Amino acid sequence: MERSLSMEIVRVTEAAALASARWMGRGEKEEADGAATEAMRTVFDTIPMHGTVVIGEGEKDEAPMLYIGEEVGSGNGPEVDIAVDPVEGTNIVALGTWNALCVVGIADRGNLLHAPDMYMEKIAVGPEAVGKVSLDYSVEENLRAVAEAKGKDVEDVVAVVLNRPRHQELINEIREAGARIKLIPDGDVAASINACFDDTGVDILMGVGGAPEGVLSAIGLKCLGGEIQGRLKPVDKEQEQRCVEMGVKDVSTILYMDDLCSGDDAIFAATGITDGELLKGVQFKGDKATTETVVMRAKSGTVRFIDGNHSLQKKPNLVMED
Ligand code: FBP
Repeated sequence: MERSLSMEIVRVTEAAALASARWMGRGEKEEADGAATEAMRTVFDTIPMHGTVVIGEGEKDEAPMLYIGEEVGSGNGPEVDIAVDPVEGTNIVALGTWNALCVVGIADRGNLLHAPDMYMEKIAVGPEAVGKVSLDYSVEENLRAVAEAKGKDVEDVVAVVLNRPRHQELINEIREAGARIKLIPDGDVAASINACFDDTGVDILMGVGGAPEGVLSAIGLKCLGGEIQGRLKPVDKEQEQRCVEMGVKDVSTILYMDDLCSGDDAIFAATGITDGELLKGVQFKGDKATTETVVMRAKSGTVRFIDGNHSLQKKPNLVMED
């Protein structure tokens, strides 16, 4: 993969964040998502690559753009698979709360799991706890493993869990083990990535979220040297069949990093739409706007934080006309 793609996709996530942030707190999650998707799609076409969307806004008949199978990029350049989530946390943007991101992941063709829109049980940790946790272990065993790996007491460990009724038993078990919990309304990609950064105060993500978000998290964690494990959770025969079609015959199988994102290279970029523990959200003032983006590459291990200062007057469509 071309190294320069890292910098190019920052323009994509920045544009999507700028577009969707205009909808922050307006209670209109579809509009926030639509604006980000359109901006993302527009900027993608300026990038020298031959990309195919494998994680996107849905199937071709249900999404107008960035649907699964759509070709993106200028058509010249490397053949890559693209995973996108123009707004990871649509409700977060609608409410103006924490950790909404615009996310793009890129890998060499054929290296990403084509996870359909279904649930996935997940556990995600940062580099220190890689290889120490498992979806097959009990909640307490995993929390103790993370505590030991990070040189903390289990009481100091913070587990992030999506605040959903389906997680009541998990929440009880985490509390019984003595760890602390951050219950989030949405946004488990941010939580997975945050587990790799001590400053965020997040040690582990646990629970069931979206499978596409699991693949996006795996791309990010591959770049950061962290780990996510997933187990697909089909809810009906149709979803079971989808699992078989993508090569997962036994749904109790744990999907490890290389099952979600294989190969030694991948690129991940996320721009904050709303403020979060890792990234500041978009701020507007007149015809200026600021963004904060993290962009990273698995092969080199480089992680960059990029502050963008944007002139909205000069770039009204979020793309410079040459
Ligand atoms: P959207 O941006 O599509 O609203 O998804 C946000 C999210 O919270 C993800 O981070 C998470 O993986 C998934 O939804 C959880 O799904 P559900 O809301 O059905 O529990």
